[in-house]
Amino acid sequence: MQGTVRAEETNVFPRFLDLSYPNIERGKGVWLETTDGHRVLDACSGGAMVACLGHGVREIAEAAAAQAERIAYFYNHHFTSQPQEDLADRVIEVVAPEMARVKLASGGSEANETAVRMARTYHVDRGQRQRWRIISPAQAYHGSTLGTLALSGRRLSLQAPYAEYMPAYLHIAPSTPRFDATGESALRELDRALEEADPDTVSAFFCEPVSAAALPGYSPPDRFWHGLAERREKYGFVVCFDEIVTGVGRVGSWLAAHQLPIEPDIVTIGKGLGAGYSPLAAVLCREHIYDAIAEGSAEFDLGHTWDGAPLPSAVGLAVLDYIVRNKLVDRVRERGPRLREQLQDALKGSRIVGEVRGRGYLLGVELVDPRDGKSFLPHELDVATLVDDIAFELGLLVSSTHSTRDGYAGDEVLLAPAYTSTDEELDEMVERFKATVGAVEKAVSKKL
Ligand SMILES: Cc1ncc(COP(=O)(O)O)c(C=O)c1O
Repeated sequence: MQGTVRAEETNVFPRFLDLSYPNIERGKGVWLETTDGHRVLDACSGGAMVACLGHGVREIAEAAAAQAERIAYFYNHHFTSQPQEDLADRVIEVVAPEMARVKLASGGSEANETAVRMARTYHVDRGQRQRWRIISPAQAYHGSTLGTLALSGRRLSLQAPYAEYMPAYLHIAPSTPRFDATGESALRELDRALEEADPDTVSAFFCEPVSAAALPGYSPPDRFWHGLAERREKYGFVVCFDEIVTGVGRVGSWLAAHQLPIEPDIVTIGKGLGAGYSPLAAVLCREHIYDAIAEGSAEFDLGHTWDGAPLPSAVGLAVLDYIVRNKLVDRVRERGPRLREQLQDALKGSRIVGEVRGRGYLLGVELVDPRDGKSFLPHELDVATLVDDIAFELGLLVSSTHSTRDGYAGDEVLLAPAYTSTDEELDEMVERFKATVGAVEKAVSKKL
């Protein structure tokens, strides 16, 4: 078995055709191992903020095997199953008691498209067919299907060359300290977007309550959320939170919404729900959304082949049980602030680090041009890729983004360890990341 695989050596259609991909063979806890024996400390839950319980948890694997033996699959168009019923109950009971219904899906993009259509169906069923537009922060990621790609406003880094497929949604700049420390400017932009769209045509405001890859660990100031709630009340659109990353404990509460002064109407959750043991996501809605559809068309007939199937549902149940039994959301809430402080201390002297931010175990490091300590690094240096490569050489997995061309954010690094990481493992992640940033700073300084 090869330790790394290049495009010309494989039948796989890789993401980047000019890269060679390390071949991971196994994982245990927060450690990954390649086929040639390189051990990597996983500070990003499998790289996509998914494996929140770590790798190789026997009881989740056993729950999956037991369900697969009983029955793995049937279509929820025809039947329901006890795992689907129990998972929906458990999500309401444990994750979001304020929500009324749960619609299961397999991934974040599917869940977010379902949320867009749920908002639309809600309005249509209340006799407001003209409501279809979505307003959302531009610097976001909501998925890779054409529907969810349109929810972000990253025209250059994400949407090109698919711009022709994007509906005319409206976008606002993020209220980061760089652009708008108070949230007032984002509210002015929101007002402008509402006016441009005609507020009567707006179906939803769609956003990540705490951003993941696009602007790691960032959340607008409270003023913005209050202002958004006021405008929802005035104009009648709904608020959808994409909690595909933040849901299920990632930021130290079951939902990020629980930390914010606004209650969303529709929420999507995903990655941590299956924890990497099965593709799994869900759309949750409040009572008024469900009631409007129940009293209207009584139909929300769209779905995907794997929605609510027994196998992923049983995995979701086992994951929630594991999180509850081991009090992992408490652990993330209590340990998260110290992890952020540790990172801040470790990176204090670095001239390439702008801000270290985040909540719980969703932490972001903003990289800046060391020549002035605030500008984005030059686009052509693609420092994000350099960070990931150097980290990997030093035996660390982090995930970096490079969306400089859109103008809202530069190179950013995301750390999102498993909730089960021990203190020693978290310390080691910080140490290895400090070494990574030091090596990146040296390499970048030579090129500037
Ligand atoms: C915030 C957010 N929403 C949606 C998605 C899309 O999820 P998926 O890749 O499972 O379709 C992602 C994926 O990274 C995400 O980070």
